[in-house]
Formats: sequence, C-alpha cells, structure tokens
Amino acid sequence: MRIAVVGTGHVGLVAAATLAEIGHRVVGTDADAERISLLSRGIAPFHEPGLDDLLRGTTESGRLSFTPDTGEAVSRAEVVFVCVGTPARSTGEANLIAVEKAVRAIAEYAIDGLVLVQKSTVPAGTAARVEQALRAQSRGRIRHIDVVSNPEFLREGRAIEDSLDPDRILVGSASARALRVMRAVYRPLIDKGCIYIETDVKTAELAKHASNAFLAMKISFANALAQICERAGADVMDVADIMGSDPRIGRAFLDAGLGYGGFCFPKDVQAFDRLAARLGYDFPLLREIARINDEAIDAAVDKLEDALWNLEDKRVTLLGLSFKPGTDDVRFSPALALARRLLAEGANVIGYDPQASSTAKEDLPELHVASDAYGAAAGAHAIVVCTEWPEFRALDLDLLCDAMANPLIVDGRNLFDPAAVTAAGFDYYPTGRPLRVQPSVAGNLDGFVA
Ligand code: UGA
Repeated sequence: MRIAVVGTGHVGLVAAATLAEIGHRVVGTDADAERISLLSRGIAPFHEPGLDDLLRGTTESGRLSFTPDTGEAVSRAEVVFVCVGTPARSTGEANLIAVEKAVRAIAEYAIDGLVLVQKSTVPAGTAARVEQALRAQSRGRIRHIDVVSNPEFLREGRAIEDSLDPDRILVGSASARALRVMRAVYRPLIDKGCIYIETDVKTAELAKHASNAFLAMKISFANALAQICERAGADVMDVADIMGSDPRIGRAFLDAGLGYGGFCFPKDVQAFDRLAARLGYDFPLLREIARINDEAIDAAVDKLEDALWNLEDKRVTLLGLSFKPGTDDVRFSPALALARRLLAEGANVIGYDPQASSTAKEDLPELHVASDAYGAAAGAHAIVVCTEWPEFRALDLDLLCDAMANPLIVDGRNLFDPAAVTAAGFDYYPTGRPLRVQPSVAGNLDGFVA
C-alpha cells in the first residue's frame, strides 16, 4: 500500500521504517526540514538499536523515502499516519497544536477515500475533532475519509522489535472500510500471529492513556514500597519478585529506583488526570503516582546528604544520563532532574552515558560530561547510578574505587551486587534494600557467619 507518515520522531520514524520493512511503500515527512535532510542522507536523528540498518535497507530498496513537502507525501497516499508530538501544556493537558497543523496540511492534499491513522498519544475524543477539522478544511473536496485510532505501544530502545513483533496492535474505528484497510496494512504481522484488537475509536484512544498510567502506577508502587523496605529492613527486589510470581500482578515494571522519565509517562499521567477532570471525574491516584515519582529523586538526594553531610563543592558522578538504557533520549530524564537538584545545592556534577552525553549536555550545559565512567569518577565524592546500562555491570570496581576521592555509591537502579561493591571498598546505598552496606560491616558479618 502507499502510506505517508507525518512526523518523524521516535514513533513516526520507527513506524515509517517498519511499515516499509513489512512491504509497504512509505514516504515520511516532517515540519523540521533539517531532520528530513538528515534522513534523506540515511542518518537517523537519534539512537535506536537496529534503526540505522533498517533505514538503510528500506531506503535502498526504494520502499522508504523522505520529503519536507507534506503535499508530496500525502497526495498519493491511501493511508496517512499522524505521528506528531503531543507534549504537555503548562496545565498538564496534551498540547494538540501539532496534530491540528498536521491535519490541516493533510486536508489540503488528501485523496478521496483516505484513511487517516492517529498514532500520536491523544485524549479520548480527539479523533472526532480530527475528522471535523479534515472535513471543514477540505471544503467538500473529499467525500470519503475515515479517521482511525491506532495507538503506539513501542518502547524506546526496543522500538524495532516492539513494532515488528508487537504484544498487540490496537485499531479503533467505526468504519468497516477503514478496519479493512487497517487489516491490509498490518496483514504481515497479523499472519505472524500478532494479537490484533479492533474496537471503537474512543476505547482505543483511552486504552493508550490507561496503559501508560497503569505502568507508571506499578513503578510508583515499587518506589513507595522501596521506602517501606528501607525502613523495615526488607529487600524490595525480593518483595517484587515474590509479588511478580503471581501472574495476576506480574514482575514487569516493579523495579524501584530513581523513578520513571521519558517523553511518555510523565506527560501521559498528567494528561490522563486532566482528561478525567475535564470529563467530571476526580482521579487523585494519578497525581499521587506523579508525586511518588518525584519523591524518588528526593530519596537519592537524602542518601547523598546522609553520607556527605553538605553537598556544596562536592563532586558527584552520575552514571547514566538517558531516561533509560538503550536510548540517547534525555527528555524528562530522572538523571537530569537529579543533576539540577545537585547543582542547585552547589555540587559539581559530572556525568557519563554510553549514548546520551551530548544530548544531556545540550539539555543541561552546567553538567560536565566525561568520555568514560572511570574519567567521570576521578576525584568524585559519590557516584549515583541513574540509568541501568548493562555495560556498567562490567565496570572494574577496584579501578573505580581507586579513582574516587570518597568511595561511595548511591545505586538508583539497584544495578550492582551489594557484596561485590562493598568487597571493592565502597560505602553502598542501594534503593529499597537493607540500607547502607558499609565495607567494614559487611566484612564483620562475613566473619561472624563463618
Ligand atoms: C513507554 C511504554 O512502555 C510504551 O508501551 C509506550 O508506547 C511509550 O511509553 C509511549 O507512550 O510512547 P518508554 O517511554 O519508551 O515506553 O519507556 P519504558 O520502558 O516504559 O520506561 C519508562 C520509564 O520507566 C523509564 O524511565 C524507566 O527507567 C522507568 N522504569 C521502567 C522504572 O523506573 N521501573 C521499571 O520497573 C520500569
């Protein structure tokens, strides 16, 4: 099929490349001409495992191309995916300006019979507004047009596998014709056995916000649990394993730490709360999820203050700057929220990230960045593990310890094995595990047990 994708951010670009990979002819377009120029030269504008190869393969095969001209992309497309950003307004509501602009541009060039697929995360009720805007803008030129909700569930860092082998594909529409077209779009994935759900538009729209809010709730539950475990002397990782062994609960998204970040959960929890309020329902649980998430940063600062007393002029190393491993995305990264808090306290903050050092530096110029973890730790009074990049597990702990002025690790992701870090000589503060394992104490206990 001939498909246009409007918006080449994480969702749009991955959708364009994977739709081309499963056999469609796809044209991607974006209001950001510089981005399109990069993409036309085969350069992905962000790090996503496997994306470079996929872009190369699909552009070389001629199935994927890019243009800055919306008309060129849309005027021959049977299906147009809208994948523009829906950031939070100052009120917390989703800002739908980019969606409206995209729809206006599409209306000018759309062919009759077009299926417009809304992939951006939007509040329930948006598709109806999109349809209205399309009809008004096209001034009767288009007689048949259908708007479909097809929320995206991919995770950054695993976006390609999530798109080519998704847990489920969700399509919302009242039109039998549009549902037929969407089945044709996803036929190769449906034939592979992927779960394919058809529903009405509003249910599909709402399911996206509900899913993200629920996942964020699991994380905040784990973080509140971590606070209790620290006070009770229990281990949050073991408690989460035990809870997760109940299939009704599940182990996923129960990892306590510095909290959730990224461009989706923080804004979607807020937007869902605002939507509920607009619909006349007060949903304080959603605000509590966000509050507990903020508390996770306070907890890390408290641990640093407990260990270092004052933070002014202390050198604090942040291992990991991206909002999670596998990406260079630092939007709403807990690491940068922590960096801002520490800088405000007068600390010198130096970070290292395998992919996100330069995006972090752009976002927060006061942050110093090092080219490796050992360089970042040199002369530091504390390390905070902010992102659980797998390669941090392979660090030489003796070397890291020797490099520091004061060997202290606050483990905001429970990345390290407590026995190994304390054996290397670190004072260790995990998250939600028996608090503060000191090398001498660990040594004494070992002796006692023997
Ligand atoms: C999230 C959802 O998982 C996707 O299904 C959804 O499509 C996407 O948002 C979106 O709406 O576009 P993503 O933001 O890429 O995906 O990242 P996640 O893997 O969900 O992680 C979000 C944050 O939660 C990260 O900061 C991560 O470190 C944190 N997290 C995750 C925890 O703190 N604990 C956990 O147990 C799991």
